[in-house]
Amino acid sequence: MFSSRLDFDLSQNRLSRLLAGLRAAGAGVLDLTESNPTRAGFSYPDTEILNSLAGPGSLIYSPEPAGSLVAREAIAAWYAARGLRVKADSMVLTTSTSESYAYILKLLADPGGEILVPRPSYPLFEYLAALESVRIVSYPLIYTGEWSIDFQALDHAASERARAVILVNPNNPTGSFLKQHELEKLIPFARSHGLAVVSDEVFADYSFSSGGHRVASLVEVKDVLTFCLSGLSKVSGLPQMKLGWMTVSGPAAPRREAMRRLEWIADTYLSVSTPVQHAAPSLLAAGESVRGQIRKRSGTNLELLRTAVKGTPCHLLHAEGGWYATLQVPRTRTEEEWALDLLRKRSVLVQPGYFFDFESEAFLVLSLLTPEDVFREGVQRIVSEVER
Ligand SMILES: Cc1ncc(COP(=O)(O)O)c(C=O)c1O
Repeated sequence: MFSSRLDFDLSQNRLSRLLAGLRAAGAGVLDLTESNPTRAGFSYPDTEILNSLAGPGSLIYSPEPAGSLVAREAIAAWYAARGLRVKADSMVLTTSTSESYAYILKLLADPGGEILVPRPSYPLFEYLAALESVRIVSYPLIYTGEWSIDFQALDHAASERARAVILVNPNNPTGSFLKQHELEKLIPFARSHGLAVVSDEVFADYSFSSGGHRVASLVEVKDVLTFCLSGLSKVSGLPQMKLGWMTVSGPAAPRREAMRRLEWIADTYLSVSTPVQHAAPSLLAAGESVRGQIRKRSGTNLELLRTAVKGTPCHLLHAEGGWYATLQVPRTRTEEEWALDLLRKRSVLVQPGYFFDFESEAFLVLSLLTPEDVFREGVQRIVSEVER
C-alpha cells in the first residue's frame, strides 16, 4: 500500500531506547548532543523578534514564488556585509535548508538519479534523497590532521547517473572548511561530469579561527551551476521561524533556466509564510547577538575540551568551524558500546560517529552548543570512563 520511498527501519535505536527509559524513570542526563539553539540557554532579543512578526504586512497574502523581494534584498545585503555579491533575483526562499535540498533534487534528478555526498557528514542526506527517489553515493573525506576531499574516490563515485556534488562548508560534524585548492579541483571536476555543485553553508558564520586558505562561500562561483544553501535556523539561531534560502550562480544560460524552473517548483508549494518574509530583515539583524553568543560558547567549550583531553587516551580532531567537536576514543569498544556505556554508567549523552557515517571507529560527536557547566561535567565523565 505504501511507497517504497519510506522503506526505512523507523524503529528506535538502542541509544534512543536507553535514553527514553532513563528519562521515563526520571534520571538526570547530561546531554552533550543539544543542537537546538532555542533550548541551549541563549538570550534572544525577544521583543524585537516578536514585534518583527506583528507588522500589518503579515495580514495580506500576495505570494511571489521566489519569495518576497523585501526578504531577498535583506538576504542579499546580509551577504554583502560579508563581502559577497548575491543578487536578489538569483535567490529562492524556502522554509528550510531541507526544503531547499528537496527543490534542488526535484530540479536536477530523475528517479534513480544519484547525488554525491560527503562522508562523514549530515545524516539527513539519506532521507532527503530517498524522498525524491534519488540515490546517495558517498565520497570520503579523509583525515590527516585536517579533513580534505578524497578526489580520486570522488571521481570513482561519479557515474553517468550523478547529477550533483554536495558539500557542506563547514562540514557537520567534522567542522572542516573547503580549501581554495580543493575548490580549484572541484569546479573542473563538476564541469567535466556535467554536475551541479550544491554548497550547504548553514554554518559558514561559525568559524573557530581564520586563515588556512578556506573558502568562505561558493555564492560567487561562475563556471558551473552552483546552489548555496543557508537559512535563519543556523544564521540567526532561529530554527522555529522556518526561513531558508538558496542562491543560484554559474553560467548565465543554465542559471536562468534553473531559476525559472525553481520558481515553478516554489510556485507549486508557496510554502514560506508571509509574516516570516516580512520579518526577515529584522530576524537577520536579531541574529547578530545570538551568533555572538553561539561563537563564544562553542569557542569556550572547544578550548575546555582540548584542555580536558590533553594527555588522555582521547584525541580531539582538528575542527575549523561549525557547532560540533569530534572526539576519537580507543577502539576497545565499538562506538555504540561507548555511547551506551557513557549513558548507562555516567549519565552522559553523546552521538556515536556512525550516526554521521564515519569511515572507521571509534568517534564520539559532541555539540559545542551545550551550556558550559553541563559540557565541562560531561567531558570530565567521558575522560574518566575512557581512562578507567
Ligand atoms: C549541514 C546541515 N544542513 C542543514 C541543516 C538543517 O537546516 P534547516 O533547519 O534550515 O533545515 C542542518 C541541521 O543541523 C545541518 O547540520
